[in-house]
Amino acid sequence: MSTLVVLGTQWGDEGKGKVVHYLATKSDYIVRYQGGNNAGHTLIYENKPFVLHLIPSGILFPKKICIITNGVVVDPKALKEEVDLLKKKNIPIDGRFFVSELAHVILPYHKYIDGILEDDTEKVKIGTTKKGIGPCYADKVRRVGIRIADYLDKEVFLELLEQNLKEKELMLGKVISIDKVRKEILEDYPVLSKFLKKYVADTSLLLADAMKKKKKILFESAQGTLLDLDYGTYPFVTSSNPTAGGASVGAGIGPSKIEKVLGVVKAYTTRVGEGPFPTELFDEVGSFLREKGQEYGATTGRPRRCGWFDAVLLRHSVRVSGIEHLILTKLDCLEGLEKIKICVAYKYKGKIIKEFPASRILQRDCKPVYEEMPGLDGKVRGVRSFDKLPKNAQKYIRRLEELVGAKIDLISLGRKREETIAVSKNIKWF
Ligand code: IMP
Repeated sequence: MSTLVVLGTQWGDEGKGKVVHYLATKSDYIVRYQGGNNAGHTLIYENKPFVLHLIPSGILFPKKICIITNGVVVDPKALKEEVDLLKKKNIPIDGRFFVSELAHVILPYHKYIDGILEDDTEKVKIGTTKKGIGPCYADKVRRVGIRIADYLDKEVFLELLEQNLKEKELMLGKVISIDKVRKEILEDYPVLSKFLKKYVADTSLLLADAMKKKKKILFESAQGTLLDLDYGTYPFVTSSNPTAGGASVGAGIGPSKIEKVLGVVKAYTTRVGEGPFPTELFDEVGSFLREKGQEYGATTGRPRRCGWFDAVLLRHSVRVSGIEHLILTKLDCLEGLEKIKICVAYKYKGKIIKEFPASRILQRDCKPVYEEMPGLDGKVRGVRSFDKLPKNAQKYIRRLEELVGAKIDLISLGRKREETIAVSKNIKWF
């Protein structure tokens, strides 16, 4: 058996795409265990960029098996669009792509509700992707959701749909006629259900078989730890668990089967959407990082908020997911800054806080306590070994390790695969 969980340690967009894509080459199975098409990986295929939101990027490698498990919420229309895109690019997927029959289905009313809740000025604005993710997970928890197995059984589906439409009319009726919503769903149903049927499987069983055969399995999270429903900046979070524990529940594998957890962390911090962000920068350094790092959302195109590295929240992420190893991305984006700051604690009403606080007021109003370091004193882009990095860059990395309590195994210095250097020798993930 050989299993590895890869997850984001900040607010998502840590550069997991590149890491997962690289690790996929060494894996037999690549598995998505939570979230939905709120995520997005930009990939380069035949020199052209394109984005995958649901299907693991490992699908680009012909022999890999890619799985979407029960922890994911699946919009059949969005999934079909992705499959069609892959087929157009002549990437074969039949027989090596599977979706869990237990995964919940996102239907148009989830998206309408997401929009209504976001636009309601009397409610807290979360800044969601409006893809219906939260309302679909809410239905799951309230036990009124529709799972793929039931979606595919027309009789059962129609009954569940009517129950849901009746209930949702209370909220939707003010904005859109429920008959219109029903019509939209029923018009798409024959094509979408036929399409889904082909890929549906008991994915927990598939993974159990794979583990028996000692296959290498990569579990990839979407979003990041601070967007986790339990451990993130609630309520400004997504509605699932991107933390390592989410892989066990979300994929139907026992926790004892997870061998290693690898965290991906950006050399600074970013966030999209609303919510607290203690080290956020509103000055020219924030704009510098946004432009240098091209910090614009892959799913919504929104500019990302940018700030200094926050070691308090990283320590929290390392702890809640049991991370021992990290991959540091976008170190090159710090090139050109005269000074670099690291947040080592927070201050609230004169008190020093060393652990990430639970209270939403503290999360919002605490002020960062910074340690300052000189800039990287030279170019890091193009460097191919840790020893050749400018001394200040090496010091920055060592200091981060010390502060967060995990080893940085690998550093990414650019988009290309070869723009990656190993920090520790003999890295063995699988
Ligand atoms: P939702 O997941 O669409 O409900 O959005 C909830 C919060 O998670 C919002 O702040 C989104 O901006 C954020 N979010 C969702 N997916 C991603 C992602 O892939 N990267 C970064 N932020 C995300």
